[in-house]
Amino acid sequence: MFEIFLVMLCGLSSRVLAKDAVSKGKFSSPVLENVRERQLVLEKNQTLQLDCRGRWDIEWVFPSGVPKSYPGAQLERSSCGKRANQFCSRLTLSPALAQHTGAYRCRYAHKPHRNTSVYVFVADSQRPFVKVQRESPAVVYMKEGENLVFPCKVTNPHTKVSLIKFPNSQIEPDQRNIVWNSRQGFVIRNSTLSYIGLFSCKTVIDGTTYTNTFLTHRPVNKINDVYLNSTGAVQELQGHMLALNCTVTAELNSRVSIDWSYPARANNSASIIKRIMPSRNRMAFYSVLTIRKLSKADGGVYTCHVESGPAKRQANTTVTVHEKPFIKIKHRDGPVVTAHAGQKSFRLSPKLRAFPEPEVIWLKDGKVAAEQCSRYRVDGYSLLIRDVAEEDAGVYTILTGIQQFKLFQNLTLSLVVHVRPQIGEKAVAMRDPGTIPRASRQALLCTSYGVPPPRLRWSWYPCPPRGRPARLA
Ligand SMILES: *[C@@H]1O[C@H](CO)[C@@H](O)[C@H](O)[C@H]1NC(C)=O
Ligand SMILES: *[C@@H]1O[C@H](CO)[C@@H](O)[C@H](O)[C@H]1NC(C)=O
Ligand SMILES: *[C@@H]1O[C@H](CO)[C@@H](O)[C@H](O)[C@H]1NC(C)=O
Ligand SMILES: *[C@@H]1O[C@H](CO)[C@@H](O)[C@H](O)[C@H]1NC(C)=O
Ligand SMILES: *[C@@H]1O[C@H](CO)[C@@H](O)[C@H](O)[C@H]1NC(C)=O
Ligand SMILES: *[C@@H]1O[C@H](CO)[C@@H](O)[C@H](O)[C@H]1NC(C)=O
Ligand SMILES: *[C@@H]1O[C@H](CO)[C@@H](O)[C@H](O)[C@H]1NC(C)=O
Ligand SMILES: *[C@@H]1O[C@H](CO)[C@@H](O)[C@H](O)[C@H]1NC(C)=O
Repeated sequence: MFEIFLVMLCGLSSRVLAKDAVSKGKFSSPVLENVRERQLVLEKNQTLQLDCRGRWDIEWVFPSGVPKSYPGAQLERSSCGKRANQFCSRLTLSPALAQHTGAYRCRYAHKPHRNTSVYVFVADSQRPFVKVQRESPAVVYMKEGENLVFPCKVTNPHTKVSLIKFPNSQIEPDQRNIVWNSRQGFVIRNSTLSYIGLFSCKTVIDGTTYTNTFLTHRPVNKINDVYLNSTGAVQELQGHMLALNCTVTAELNSRVSIDWSYPARANNSASIIKRIMPSRNRMAFYSVLTIRKLSKADGGVYTCHVESGPAKRQANTTVTVHEKPFIKIKHRDGPVVTAHAGQKSFRLSPKLRAFPEPEVIWLKDGKVAAEQCSRYRVDGYSLLIRDVAEEDAGVYTILTGIQQFKLFQNLTLSLVVHVRPQIGEKAVAMRDPGTIPRASRQALLCTSYGVPPPRLRWSWYPCPPRGRPARLA
């Protein structure tokens, strides 16, 4: 019983160990064989030689100052190890120059995070700073409360460098908030607005002064406006082109990023062109999204997302892709509509959906409406009638057509105009009926007019006492 337990325990631990050897064992990262320290200091014109060994294929990453095609850089790869199952690579850089100063990194090609590096200084007393500056100062972006780096790294780690604020105040490193780092330059922790201006890193070697000058710049993140050039929804035919222009205006010195989301984003079917147009007191950025041949799947919401630091804005539009041109027209309130004489205005508006935009003509009783009466006006697709009168009643036809595609549709509707009933006799002065002999036959006449024809009703009132006129209604 006890023996079995022990065997199980051993089996378990050896498996754990084996797994550990893969991740942490020898050559889990490639190894630089001929360097002991984390940094090397060479003199200009000397030869840099680095040997890297690992269990898998190895590649190198050089400082940016070593051009890809530098003829002085040689790589020799070989199989190595007892059973030639390892990978070796030797880098030879000759002559090494000041601008080659930086980190040399050897890594596994398939696992870049498994890497080893050495920092190499190539000291050159005539080039104390890795970067040689031409006339204008370099721009350094700064943000309050964040680290600010004046990147004046040096070719010799023992160089004494001071930081000067223009015109001549010297800033002393305190190793807390102002730190000198020969591989980076001056690092200002938690920078403040006092670091806006012109600064230089300065060193004096053999009586010669060398400087690297920087202009700090605090970018503003203020987006004023974002808009698409199509205000409403966009409709287009399948196979046609879609172009949307997103315009961003921002405060001077702003930097913005513009990104689009759209239905076919995953297919990357749109081409996007960006432009910047600085003007005197603001910046304008354009991003034009183009899809050459629309398909039905391209219909949907297109959004232009704009970011400037923490500031975010967006504008969107809905794109509808129609398979083919069409006109759909039908009655809104049935084929007969009613208006009232004296109404200020009345609108004849059937339901119409069409693409592309059709031409519209309104007829009244077979003749062009607008030519018949100045009170008729075509407004969009509808016909607007001002000061409705009885004679406006009739048969109206809307003719719609898209010439280009030979598409035509008509719709007819009737307009009935109601007229308030009027009594003809009221228009003439009321005649005194006079005295009428009892038992004689009398005809009382009432004429009335209206649309629809009014119903008439007579009423009779007994005679009022003498002296008051009789009333008939
Ligand atoms: C480095 O080599 C160049 C040309 O090979 C020579 O002109 C220069 O004097 C050398 N510089 C040093 C510091 O040895
Ligand atoms: C080197 O490895 C570190 C992590 O181990 C990783 O963060 C870094 O990106 C790697 N560098 C390169 C150049 O591959
Ligand atoms: C940065 O400086 C400001 C003002 O001096 C201070 O209030 C803030 O706590 C500092 N932040 C950090 C992270 O040191
Ligand atoms: C929007 O801008 C693009 C590119 O300038 C243009 O092709 C397109 O016709 C414009 N659309 C509208 C509705 O103005
Ligand atoms: C985008 O639209 C703006 C106006 O909103 C115009 O000035 C600009 O030229 C347009 N860009 C393109 C590429 O059409
Ligand atoms: C994207 O490509 C897939 C496969 O080709 C296709 O099925 C899909 O319709 C495309 N989507 C758009 C929006 O074009
Ligand atoms: C489109 O923009 C409007 C107005 O800015 C916003 O209310 C709406 O949520 C946006 N729609 C989408 C789908 O992003
Ligand atoms: C529409 O009306 C016009 C004029 O009355 C006529 O010529 C045409 O044939 C009609 N079209 C349709 C599709 O009804």
